[in-house]
Order: sequence, then C-alpha cells, then structure tokens
Amino acid sequence: LFYFISSFFCVFSLCLISSMAQQNLLQTGLAGGEVTLNCPVENTREYWKKISSLLTKTIFSKGPIAISGEAEIKGEYKQLRVRKLNLSDAGIYTCQYGSHKVQTSLHVFKLTISSDGHFLQNEVPELILMQNSSSPLPDLSITLFNSNNNRVRPELKNEMRQKYIMNLKNLEATDNGTWVCQVHSDSPPINQKIFFALKVLGFQNPDSERKYATVDSTVILSWHLNFQKIKWKEDFTGQLIWKQQESANTLQLFDFKVTAQGELHETKKSSNFLFEIPERKPESTIQVKLPKVHFNHSGQYQCQLAYQGRYTQSKIELVVMKVSSDPAGPLSRGANMTLTCQVSGQLPPNAYLRWERVNGTKMDIKNSKQHEVKLEVNISAAGLWSCHLIEDNDRKISFHYHVEEAPVWINYVIIGTSVGGGILVFVLACLCIISSIKWKRRRQRARRMAQGRQYLLENKTCQCQQ
Ligand SMILES: *[C@@H]1O[C@H](CO)[C@@H](O)[C@H](O)[C@H]1NC(C)=O
Ligand SMILES: *[C@@H]1O[C@H](CO)[C@@H](O)[C@H](O)[C@H]1NC(C)=O
Ligand SMILES: *[C@@H]1O[C@H](CO)[C@@H](O)[C@H](O)[C@H]1NC(C)=O
Ligand SMILES: *[C@@H]1O[C@H](CO)[C@@H](O)[C@H](O)[C@H]1NC(C)=O
Ligand SMILES: *[C@@H]1O[C@H](CO)[C@@H](O)[C@H](O)[C@H]1NC(C)=O
Ligand SMILES: *[C@@H]1O[C@H](CO)[C@@H](O)[C@H](O)[C@H]1NC(C)=O
Ligand SMILES: *[C@@H]1O[C@H](CO)[C@@H](O)[C@H](O)[C@H]1NC(C)=O
Repeated sequence: LFYFISSFFCVFSLCLISSMAQQNLLQTGLAGGEVTLNCPVENTREYWKKISSLLTKTIFSKGPIAISGEAEIKGEYKQLRVRKLNLSDAGIYTCQYGSHKVQTSLHVFKLTISSDGHFLQNEVPELILMQNSSSPLPDLSITLFNSNNNRVRPELKNEMRQKYIMNLKNLEATDNGTWVCQVHSDSPPINQKIFFALKVLGFQNPDSERKYATVDSTVILSWHLNFQKIKWKEDFTGQLIWKQQESANTLQLFDFKVTAQGELHETKKSSNFLFEIPERKPESTIQVKLPKVHFNHSGQYQCQLAYQGRYTQSKIELVVMKVSSDPAGPLSRGANMTLTCQVSGQLPPNAYLRWERVNGTKMDIKNSKQHEVKLEVNISAAGLWSCHLIEDNDRKISFHYHVEEAPVWINYVIIGTSVGGGILVFVLACLCIISSIKWKRRRQRARRMAQGRQYLLENKTCQCQQ
C-alpha cells in the first residue's frame, strides 16, 4: 500500500520520503499557477478519526514568511491551496496534527517567454526558466518540444542554477501552437512538464517565391496570412511595396490594417502604377492584380507585416516574358526573320530559355546559355514558335508566337521588287517606245488614209467631170 501511495504521489510530483511521525514531501508548482498541499497519512480510516478529533489542530504554515499567492485552507482533508503562485512562495510548508507532522518542500518554477509569446515569423524567442526552493537548487536537465512534438535544441545558458536562458531558432508560421518544456532532476526527483503557447504571425507562403507571366496577361499575386488560423487577437498593420528590378526604386502600392477582430482594411497609396486590389478574395489574403502586365512591371513585390515596431515580410518575384520579331509581320518564302525572347530580371542558375518550332525538327531548337535572359533565333520556316523558360527541367512559362507565311501574291510583289527597279524601268521604257512607235505608225497610217481619201475624192471629181 505504501508503495502504491508513494508511486501515486510521485506521478503528481509529490514523493513520500518517510512515513514516520514526521513525513517529508516534495511538490513542484508553476509561478502564476496553483498548488494544493495535502496532509496525507498511511491509513485513511485512522486519518478520518484523527481529523474528527484534532480538527482545529491541523495547521499549515510556512515559517515566519507570509505566502505571496492567494492561500486558502479548504475541504475535509484540510488542504492548503495557493493560487497565483510566486517564486518567493517556494519553501517548506508544515502540516501538524497531534504528534504527526508533514513537511512539504515546495519547489517553484517560473517560465517567461519574451514578447509575451506573440511573435512575427523569423523572430527568435528567448525563454527564461527560473527555479526556487528551500534546499540547494538542483542542476536541471531541460528538454523542449515544439508544437509538432519534435524535440528542439535551444542554445542554453545557465546562471548559478537559478536561471536558465534558452534562445530558440527563427520561428516559422508552422511553429505556432503549444510547446512543452520538460524539466528533470534526479535529486530531488523532479519531472515537471511546462506547457506554453507561442503565437507566430506570418505567411503561409514561403519566404520568397517566383512567379512567371507573359507580357499583357493578367497577374494576381497573393499572400496568405495566418492571423485567423492562429487566433491572433491583436491589431497589426502592413504594406505592399514594389521594388523595380534594375533601379533601386521602391513604390508603396497600398497599406493595410487588421483589427483585433480580424477585419482587413486596405488603402491605396499609388496612382501612377496600374493595379487593382481585388474585392473578392479568400479570407486573410492580401492580393494585388496587374490587369495587363508590362515588361517593366517585373521585380520584387514585398508584403510586410508590422507588429509593435517589429517587421516581417514575404516577397514574390515577378518575372515577365516578352517576344518580338524582326522584321515584324508575315514571313515570305525564302526570307529570314529574327525572333527574340526576353525575360525581365535574373534567372536562377539552373534556368535557361529555349526556342522551338511546334512539330518542327531538331534543327528548330535553340537553347540559351544559363544566366542569359535573352535568346534570338533566325528562322526561315513559318508556323507556331514557342519560347520556354526551363528551370530544373520544368517548363515554368511558355510564349507561343505564330509566324504567318506571307500570301503568294505578296511573294510575287516582293520578288518583283527584289529583282530590281531596273527591269521595271526597262519594261516601262520598252512599253513607252513600243507605244510611241505604234502611235507614230498610227499617225502615218492616218495621214496616208487621209491622203488616199483626198486622192479618191479628187478622182471622183475627175470622174464626174469626165
Ligand atoms: C512575487 O513576489 C515578488 C516579491 O514578493 C513581487 O514583487 C511580485 O510582484 C510577485 N509576483 C506575482 C506574480 O505576484
Ligand atoms: C526564493 O525563495 C525564498 C524563500 O524561500 C525567498 O526569500 C526568495 O526571495 C526567493 N527567490 C526569488 C528569486 O524569488
Ligand atoms: C496557434 O497557437 C495558438 C496558441 O497556442 C492556438 O490557439 C491556435 O489554435 C494555434 N493555431 C494553429 C493553426 O496552430
Ligand atoms: C513601362 O514601359 C512603358 C512602355 O514600354 C511605359 O509607358 C511605362 O511608363 C513604363 N512604366 C514604368 C513604371 O516604368
Ligand atoms: C537565312 O538563314 C540561313 C541560315 O541561318 C542562311 O543560310 C541564309 O543565307 C539566310 N538567308 C537570308 C536571305 O538571309
Ligand atoms: C502538331 O502536330 C499535331 C499532331 O500531328 C497536330 O494535331 C497539331 O495541330 C500540330 N500543331 C501545329 C501547330 O502544327
Ligand atoms: C541572325 O541574322 C542576323 C542578320 O542576318 C545576324 O546579324 C545575326 O547574327 C543572326 N543571329 C543568329 C543568332 O544567328
């Protein structure tokens, strides 16, 4: 039975050390929390008898020092309950009835979390664990588990066993939740689990992503915040800024505010940049819509959050692709044309551009070198040409460009003109000469005919006269 009781109490960090007239117990408590100290005895029946006869002699005391927390003696067992425990409440508590004396050593831990447990992603929290007791302070071994119940190894500093300072790694939005600090010591036997909450406000996007678009298409960039998911009950603000690729220009597009109730209010800040803030969008999402994206609208779009003078951000890099041909217009038979494909900004090291003709031959494929953001190809075949941006063997974006074949009559005109103006002049000259000769002849013939008519007329006259 003794073994049973002692192991029962040990589970609750309350270990029976001796069971003679004087009992020594150990109990742990958390600052700000609550503890209940008992007056246990071996035989419950006997205890009841004693309680009924020695009720008024049951005393709890903690030497001459006052209890800082709210103390109350309650119930038939005459338990001492202390709420809002303080580090200074650590010490030896005595419960005495008749010849029996129970001494409980109360060991108090206090865990403080920087920023009151409210963090922006990428911040580094600091945890401070303090302990206090009447006996010499034990050397604690501390184990931390994150919200996914994985063990984390913080950087740990120990000041005279009184204070343990732990610096965690940069927080991610997925670190939000309940963490556990497990405190262990062999002597005295302590096994205390301290649960604490971390709220990590941030993005459900990765820190940095890349988005590809073809020029003149509609682009929507989205940032998914987690404030509703983590029940963040505080105001915070933010802004969306655009950082142009080559120039160091930054432009604030809009700012926003999220109230403690989770309502989002946005205010447009720039009027000379063509963009929209979509009305209807998924909950807790920041969005910007570029209705007809320009080549020079590429660059970094950064969504920044601000909370109590601290900042975090997530950026989307917009890469725009454009295609042009020289000469513009349809391709005539036998002629060549240069197609140019260009992307804004820089490509990651494992990316390149490729021109190819749809249903074409291997000869119709041309790849750029890595890092090259512009690829030209000289073509002589009409059809559908595609420029692909390939990253890690994945086609990230393709621009399909239809090269039309010039109609046949245009070919003749072009051939005609290309053969040279000389022939035309010659032909025209010939036509001129031919027509002038014809005209001369016609005039001669006309003159002769007129002479003949006159002659005939004269003859007739003569005949009449005859
Ligand atoms: C704990 O006690 C100290 C000193 O008695 C006092 O200054 C402090 O306010 C107390 N803390 C709490 C949480 O009651
Ligand atoms: C530790 O407890 C003692 C009493 O047992 C108290 O005098 C002392 O102030 C406490 N230390 C801290 C840091 O609260
Ligand atoms: C984030 O942590 C808070 C505090 O522990 C909790 O109330 C909330 O449910 C958590 N949310 C998620 C998505 O883990
Ligand atoms: C982008 O380029 C177009 C023409 O190519 C120009 O009209 C526009 O002003 C430029 N926009 C910016 C923001 O530079
Ligand atoms: C067209 O290009 C091909 C190969 O690039 C070349 O052999 C040919 O001479 C070019 N023709 C013209 C008219 O430029
Ligand atoms: C390519 O070939 C496929 C199958 O032969 C055909 O369906 C498709 O229309 C062709 N595309 C072009 C652009 O020629
Ligand atoms: C394409 O043709 C033009 C003019 O004929 C020439 O200057 C250029 O170097 C050629 N480009 C390629 C990639 O062959």
